[in-house]
Amino acid sequence: MDDDSELPDYVRRNRAHWDVLAAQYVEPAERAWAREEPAWGIWHTPESRLHVLPDDVAGRDAIELGCGTAYVSAWLARRGARVVGVDNSAAQLETARRLQREHGLAFPLIHGNAERVPYPDASFDLAISEYGACLWADPYRWVPEAARLLRPGGELIFLVNSALLTLCVPDEDLVPAGERLLRPAFGMHRVEWPSDASVEFHLSHGDWLRLLRRSGFEVEDLIELRPAEGATTRFPYVNAEWSRRWPSEEVWKARKRG
Ligand SMILES: C[S@@+](CC[C@H](N)C(=O)[O-])C[C@H]1O[C@@H](n2cnc3c(N)ncnc32)[C@H](O)[C@@H]1O
Repeated sequence: MDDDSELPDYVRRNRAHWDVLAAQYVEPAERAWAREEPAWGIWHTPESRLHVLPDDVAGRDAIELGCGTAYVSAWLARRGARVVGVDNSAAQLETARRLQREHGLAFPLIHGNAERVPYPDASFDLAISEYGACLWADPYRWVPEAARLLRPGGELIFLVNSALLTLCVPDEDLVPAGERLLRPAFGMHRVEWPSDASVEFHLSHGDWLRLLRRSGFEVEDLIELRPAEGATTRFPYVNAEWSRRWPSEEVWKARKRG
């Protein structure tokens, strides 16, 4: 576990934030761990529609960056991957450990900052993050760290809020995204919402592309998610009507150059 005092301010703030928020993620985690088929993001889009995961992960070394309650790791472990989860919140990992016991699945769970993972270079074939480090850690730190951790040809897959949504979500809590651009796209990076003390990171598409390429990746896909008709979410910052017209979340797939 990292010594708190050595962590960047946003990692410390997000640690405190997620240690409190963890209680609200217990029930969704129980549902996600119990799913046979993975379902992604805030609209629970089924894997069969999205194809987020590589076709065959059996026997591959995988790391989940910001695993939270580790249901994505569980889905990978059930498909035969040798998976490791890293998360900044001890409370989230407590839920993950209980669910590991209840589901009879064991894989390493590390309490730490995904910007500095205690594994040697080229340890993994797959790095994945669903609203984890890819949203709450600084991309200029966690993307190069993911590149270091991956073997040549390894895959990086992450799911985050779409860049467009981030421009349209109002500062006020519980008010969903509207049809106006509320903040500049240029210079988007560290984003702090007035309603809580956490720190998020969002980039424009151009900045993601340049960062990924500079870190040694080739981008293979950018999937903009459209929820199925009738899909619902528990999150208040966007509604289905908006998300059926514009992408509210996106999946990036990149491969480390050989
Ligand atoms: C919305 S959860 C996503 C994880 C998982 N998909 C879930 O819902 O349980 C966000 C997680 O990212 C973790 N996180 C935030 N910053 C992190 C960092 N710098 N390194 C590792 N994990 C981080 C938080 O502790 C939290 O558990």
